[in-house]
Amino acid sequence: MQRDLVRRGRLSDDRTGEVMHFLSSMTADREIADMDVLVDMAHLLMLSRQGIIDREAAVALMRALLGFYRDGIPAEAYDEQFEDIHAGKEAVLIGQVGEAFGGRLHMARSRNDEVATCIRMRLRRELIALMEETCTLRGVLLETAAAHLHTIMPGFTHLQHAQPTTLAHHLLAYEQALSRDFARFADAYARLNECPLGAAAFASTGFPIDREYTARLLGFDRPMGNSMDAVSARDFAIEALADCATMTATTSRLCEEMIIWSTAFVRFVTLADDYSSTSSIMPQKKNPDTAEIMRAKTGTVAGALVSALTITKGLPMSYNRDLQELTPHLWHGIGAAEESLVVLAGMIRTATFNTEKMAEEAGKGFSTATELADVMVREFGLPFRTAHSIVGRAVKMGALDLDTLEAAAEEVAGLSLRERGLTPERIASALDPAVSVAERSAVGGPAPAETGRACIGRKEYLTADRTRVASLKKAQEAAVTELIAEAERLAA
Ligand code: ARG
Repeated sequence: MQRDLVRRGRLSDDRTGEVMHFLSSMTADREIADMDVLVDMAHLLMLSRQGIIDREAAVALMRALLGFYRDGIPAEAYDEQFEDIHAGKEAVLIGQVGEAFGGRLHMARSRNDEVATCIRMRLRRELIALMEETCTLRGVLLETAAAHLHTIMPGFTHLQHAQPTTLAHHLLAYEQALSRDFARFADAYARLNECPLGAAAFASTGFPIDREYTARLLGFDRPMGNSMDAVSARDFAIEALADCATMTATTSRLCEEMIIWSTAFVRFVTLADDYSSTSSIMPQKKNPDTAEIMRAKTGTVAGALVSALTITKGLPMSYNRDLQELTPHLWHGIGAAEESLVVLAGMIRTATFNTEKMAEEAGKGFSTATELADVMVREFGLPFRTAHSIVGRAVKMGALDLDTLEAAAEEVAGLSLRERGLTPERIASALDPAVSVAERSAVGGPAPAETGRACIGRKEYLTADRTRVASLKKAQEAAVTELIAEAERLAA
């Protein structure tokens, strides 16, 4: 077993297992271990190209690193006597190639810039996955919307029947919100994708390093500027978590609706068995557990965000070990958001919408009263507030037929609607939910003509976003391929 060589010079090492466990980030470091091997390779290539390390040492180290890349870092590197994977891996490398060579890899860097680089690289991958999954969910919403342009349903405010709308309009609302989440992830990606490597502990280094080169090898857009900020900053983690929290705040609303809509007294949707659970005692039960867990994941993500904010607040410059405590929250929060997106897309894709029940409910609760008031304004010249009061009074009286409306008009405004030409037929058509929906054809409205147009337009946005994330992914894959090729050339 290798010793933790980082402690060898300055400290004795009689720590108890509890202290080792307390100090070590090993569990969370499993998330970044693969990235760390790539970071080592890029750093080594740069040291070699700059003549900071001699060829023989560089070749021996690169051969060992390529072994780690192909077969994984040996298990002994993950022992909790090491404070982290960086120390564990260095000890194993030194064990393999000897300290004369292995002891040279950590020139001109620190674990502080190393870990910040690893976290950014791993988070970059997660942001790409989040963008892809957001697109998948948006695609499902758009397809489902396109199939339900004419599916009339009640729209709600205050969870009270408000005005008729369509299922397409409802689902398009979520798609539009999720497109902003995509934009936020893409934005966070651009700020994230700068390379801290070379900042060393915080004060950079006196070695003649080439930060542009390592940044390029690792697929970053550029090296980070100020070296103190490079190792201290975790706002990229806060930003990613905030974006996930914002996104899950929205997806949890859709989950809540699936839960309400699947109740026996609403029955707007039947979730597929695969997304439901039953009861251990009540044999008849079909519960929307997937939607409930997902609603709760919103709390997990928000909790991770609050943890990250609280851990970083008030930290003096530059690196503080507190930052280690933040990283697991990052993976936990991001992971919860990601799995929610995947499961939600499946839940919606496999759901069956009860269009008859929706139509039946659409006209309830005087939900077309607004359209009737609008007709009085458009066709009989009433001020909107007067029409609003007349219809409101008629609702209070209990009916929207001509006699009641006439009595209400007399009471509220001292006028006769009959005299102005209102007929039972005109009332009936104004109260038809389909007519009310069709009338609402302004930009963004529920009229099938408008939602049909929206579906096409939104699909174009989605295609553009998919292209954007595919090109980010391709650039990352190309960077890794190029890095490995360079590494192999050095090791040959
Ligand atoms: N395990 C540490 C972390 O996750 C790596 C950096 C350690 N730096 C240090 N000065 N102890 O943040």
